[in-house]
Amino acid sequence: MVYFALFFECKRINIIGMKVINTIKDLKAALSAYRTAGKKVGLVPTMGALHAGHASLVKRSVQDNDVTVVSDFVNPTQFNDKNDLVNYPHQLDADIKLLESCGATFLFAPSVEEMYPEPDTRHFSYPPIDTVMEGARRPGHFNGVCQIVSKLFMAVEPDKAYFGEKDFQQVAVIRAMVKDLKLGIEIVSCPIIREDGGLALSSRNQLLSPEERSNALNISKTLFQSRDYAASHTVADTQKFVEERIYLAEGLRLEYFEIVDGNSLQKIADWKDTSFAVGCITVFSGKIRLIDNIKYKE
Ligand code: PAJ
Repeated sequence: MVYFALFFECKRINIIGMKVINTIKDLKAALSAYRTAGKKVGLVPTMGALHAGHASLVKRSVQDNDVTVVSDFVNPTQFNDKNDLVNYPHQLDADIKLLESCGATFLFAPSVEEMYPEPDTRHFSYPPIDTVMEGARRPGHFNGVCQIVSKLFMAVEPDKAYFGEKDFQQVAVIRAMVKDLKLGIEIVSCPIIREDGGLALSSRNQLLSPEERSNALNISKTLFQSRDYAASHTVADTQKFVEERIYLAEGLRLEYFEIVDGNSLQKIADWKDTSFAVGCITVFSGKIRLIDNIKYKE
């Protein structure tokens, strides 16, 4: 009796470690006992190469739920640039250590064949949310994100799923999909975690040279300065402020900067147009594409 009590307590606080699972069948089997017992299940979808930004989502899920599943799968269908897919960093052993320290219960690390035994021909479309910004520049990207996230939702059937605000538009698209498919999963969005210098943590930061990394610090610096500037200037002036600073910064190339309503993701002309205004930016530092955003009003 004492032995069983200790076993379950260790499992709860993860002393005996996190279990790595590779197939949907095994994952469903592992979760079924928890579900029968009425336990709350949280899901954190990731593509691995984990950092403190991912860890913040996992810790939040561990806090909110009895069981936390973290998926680690570099989803080929969301990469419109095949070089980006080939160069995407992999570090499963380090990911496992990080997840164990955060208290995750299961790491789901499937193969491409497991997730896509057949090509996925489903088409997800949530205009105008998925047609602007990233949607306009990365054709097929959000369709691929919805394909994999919907499969993960079906495999795990979580009560809550955790996403980072760094990918601000991604959260809005996932919310639209959950509403459309009536999945009844609560989407929890978590704040951006930044390095000391302000750079938003990203798996792609590992690909930056020291010089590109130092140039990239001007992205968040500009966004923070623009928040002060916006307090006494128009939307158009704030837009110009950001564009000019990125243009003048060493080694950076602006792809877009848009000040949008945080729910519809449509551009605003006046601060009075919304109670939730967000500036979303995509910038190249060298060859590395980095995204970030800042809330002006919420
Ligand atoms: P990935 O880029 O690995 O990110 C996984 C989750 O971590 C996303 O919800 C992302 O927004 C969040 N995240 C990344 N950097 C963060 C930071 N600095 N602060 C807070 N959260 C951060 O996003 C994806 O993977 C994929 O598109 C995925 C949803 C897994 C579908 O394949």
